[in-house]
Amino acid sequence: MKVLVATEKPFAAVAVDGIRKVLDEAGYELALLEKYTDRQQLLDAVADADAMIIRSDKVDAEVLDAAKNLKIVVRAGAGYDNVDLAAATAHGVCVENTPGQNSNAVAELVFGMAVMAVRNMYNGTSGSELKGKRLGIHAFGQVGRNVARIAKGFGMEVCALDPYCPEEVMVAAGVEPVKDIKALYSGNQVVSLHIPATAETKGSVGYDLITLLPKNGVLVNTARKEVMDEEGLRKALADRPDLKYVADVKPDNAEVLLAEFPGRVFFTPKKMGAQTAEANINAGIAAARQIVEFLRDGKAPFRVNK
Ligand code: 3PG
Repeated sequence: MKVLVATEKPFAAVAVDGIRKVLDEAGYELALLEKYTDRQQLLDAVADADAMIIRSDKVDAEVLDAAKNLKIVVRAGAGYDNVDLAAATAHGVCVENTPGQNSNAVAELVFGMAVMAVRNMYNGTSGSELKGKRLGIHAFGQVGRNVARIAKGFGMEVCALDPYCPEEVMVAAGVEPVKDIKALYSGNQVVSLHIPATAETKGSVGYDLITLLPKNGVLVNTARKEVMDEEGLRKALADRPDLKYVADVKPDNAEVLLAEFPGRVFFTPKKMGAQTAEANINAGIAAARQIVEFLRDGKAPFRVNK
């Protein structure tokens, strides 16, 4: 069996070593395609692969058509909006993710960015502290739960909104459940986004929500750029000079925002949330194990397509 690791944004070398070890033990062959710049490289590499490990790499009908032997794709990470699930099902390909494996890394970056925002992007002026501030977590999945844990260490008061998460889970984590999205934005100096990009959430965070933030509010987005209404964000920042937006998912209008709101917006050049050796090891090795489990035992506990 041939397993292709196709990562435009590569794993740490130590994670690739771990993946190789799992595959070696199963008697599978590893093929590595890292930092590819041309889609044709991916189409060529996948041609004889039985399984595939990806990150945010796009897997659509074209890739699936090129992958005649493919049986399973594992997205080493949480969000699978980069995979065309219907096309995978139509091609008889199982799709799994590795929930929770990189969530601490993303959660730590939330605080790296929040501290930077309240310290005025480290520009030498007097800023403020997170201690005593209120944090609103927009979606209480694996990342949101890690964010809550870390926020407690900062001495923040934490609440969360998530219609898909039982309230008891929040309460057990010492987090106040919030039912109304407007209350989430109006009641918290820092709001951290952890919603996936779905048909329901795309473009859902815009002017009306952002301008509800209290004075000196900070919106942190380590989720997906697609959940933002970018023009709404731009208008909100223009109307509310006290607000800041920091994101690990660079918006399409990043250059405009940087030019119009210097010192109030920050974007990483490439999504860095899960870019730690630990997250790469956790997610990469989990993905390799899930592939072995599927090909050898027919099990797919984290299947996300039908
Ligand atoms: C995820 O969905 O797991 C994160 O956004 C990380 O994505 P990445 O593997 O492309 O860094």
